[in-house]
Amino acid sequence: MLLQIKIYLISVLYFLGALYMVFFPPRNFDLSGAKIRTTRSTSDSLKLQKYVDHKTVSLVLDGFRRRDPDVVNVVNLTPQTFENRTILAVELRSDKQTRKPGILIVGGLNPMAWASPNAILELSEKLLYDAHYQTPFFNDYDWYLVPMGNPDGIEFTHKLRTRPPLDSADWAQNISVRAETRPSEWHKNVDLEDEQKDTRCFGTNINRNFAYHWQDDVHKTPTQCCQYYPGQKPFSTAEARAIRKYVDKMGDFINLAIHLHASFKPKKEYILYPWRYSLRSPSNYRTLQEIGEYAARQARLQDGRLYQVHQSSNDERVAGTLIDYISGVVGVDLVFLIKPYHEMFPNFTDTNNLRLYVKKSITTVLSLVRAWRSSTRQNTLSFFGRDVEF
Ligand SMILES: *[C@@H]1O[C@H](CO)[C@@H](O)[C@H](O)[C@H]1NC(C)=O
Ligand SMILES: *[C@@H]1O[C@H](CO)[C@@H](O)[C@H](O)[C@H]1NC(C)=O
Ligand SMILES: *[C@@H]1O[C@H](CO)[C@@H](O)[C@H](O)[C@H]1NC(C)=O
Repeated sequence: MLLQIKIYLISVLYFLGALYMVFFPPRNFDLSGAKIRTTRSTSDSLKLQKYVDHKTVSLVLDGFRRRDPDVVNVVNLTPQTFENRTILAVELRSDKQTRKPGILIVGGLNPMAWASPNAILELSEKLLYDAHYQTPFFNDYDWYLVPMGNPDGIEFTHKLRTRPPLDSADWAQNISVRAETRPSEWHKNVDLEDEQKDTRCFGTNINRNFAYHWQDDVHKTPTQCCQYYPGQKPFSTAEARAIRKYVDKMGDFINLAIHLHASFKPKKEYILYPWRYSLRSPSNYRTLQEIGEYAARQARLQDGRLYQVHQSSNDERVAGTLIDYISGVVGVDLVFLIKPYHEMFPNFTDTNNLRLYVKKSITTVLSLVRAWRSSTRQNTLSFFGRDVEF
C-alpha cells in the first residue's frame, strides 16, 4: 500500500516536471552554446590583403551582420567625425538573452597603426566562424569591438602615402611644400578648430583628448602644429566624444578593455596598463602585471623575445589617454594597451608586415583573455598542481 502511494507520488512529480518543461522550456535553447558551435564550425578564413580603409571596414562588418544577424550587431557611433565619417562598433554576442563577461577592443585610434583595424576584423571573423576560436573565446564572452577609431586620420595618411616624406614639424610650418610631400609621421585626426589661432596647422591627437587628467603631462599646451596636440579642451574631438559615449554606455558590461595600438620602434613591443598620466600605481597593479606577464609568455614573439610588461608611465607620462579614461572614469578594472611593432608608412603592397602585425595582435589579445581566465580560475581545474583549462 505504502509502496503504491510512493510510486503514485513519484509519477505525479515526474508528470509535473514534464509539464513544466513544456510550458517553460529552458530559456533560448535554440541559442545555447552547443547549437551555435555545430552550426558555425565552417572556417573560411578572411585574409585581408590590404590595409583596410573606412569603407572596407564598413563593408566587412555589414557582411558579418547580414550573414549572422542573431549574433552580430553593428552600431553607428555618434557624432560623426570632422569629415563626416561614422565610427563603427561591432558587437559579437553568442547569446543575446544573457550578458557574458564583456571584452572591449578599440583599434585604429593612431593613424600610423594602419594594420590595427585589419587585426580586429580578422579576429571578429575567427571568433564567428573558426571552430578553434569559438570555444572558449566566442561562447564565453561578449565582444565589443571598435576596429577604426580614427577613420579621418587613416584616410589622410593612406592618401598621402606615395609622396616623399618631410619632417612633420617642417611639414606643418611650410604650406608651400605640402602639395608634393607628406609628413614623416602623423598621429592626429584632421580637425580644424573654431577660432583657431594658427590656421596653418590642423589635427588633434585623439589619444590625448580624453577627460581624465587632461594635459597633466605638460607644463604648457603644445601648439596645434605638434603631433601631440591635445585639443582646445577635453573631448573637443568628435572621435573621443563618440568613443566616450559608447564606453560610458557599455561600461557596466565590460570586464576587460584593450586598446590595440602599435610601437613604432623595432624590437620594442609592449603590454602596458594604467596609469599613463601618473607614476602612481593603480590599486590592482599586481593583478595587471601578473595577467600581462602571463599573456607575454603565451604570446612569445617570433624571435623568442617577450613583450615588455609594465605600467605605461614607466616609459613616459602621457595624459588624456583612452585607457586612463576607461580605467579612471568608466571604472573598468582590467585595462591594457597592446603595442606590437608596426612600421610607419610601410610599403603598401608588401603584405608581410601587415600579416605579421595582425597575427601578433590576435595572439596577444587572446593571450590576455587566457591570462584573465587563469587569474580568475574561471573554467580551470588544478590537476596535480597543473592548471587545466576546460
Ligand atoms: C559634413 O556635413 C556637413 C553637414 O552636412 C557639411 O556642412 C560639411 O561640409 C561636411 N564636411 C565634409 C568635410 O564633407
Ligand atoms: C618651405 O620650403 C621650401 C622648399 O624646401 C623653402 O624654399 C622655403 O624657404 C620654405 N619656407 C619656409 C617659410 O620655411
Ligand atoms: C613594395 O613591395 C613590393 C612587393 O614586395 C615590391 O615589389 C616593391 O618594390 C616595394 N616597394 C618599395 C618602394 O619598396
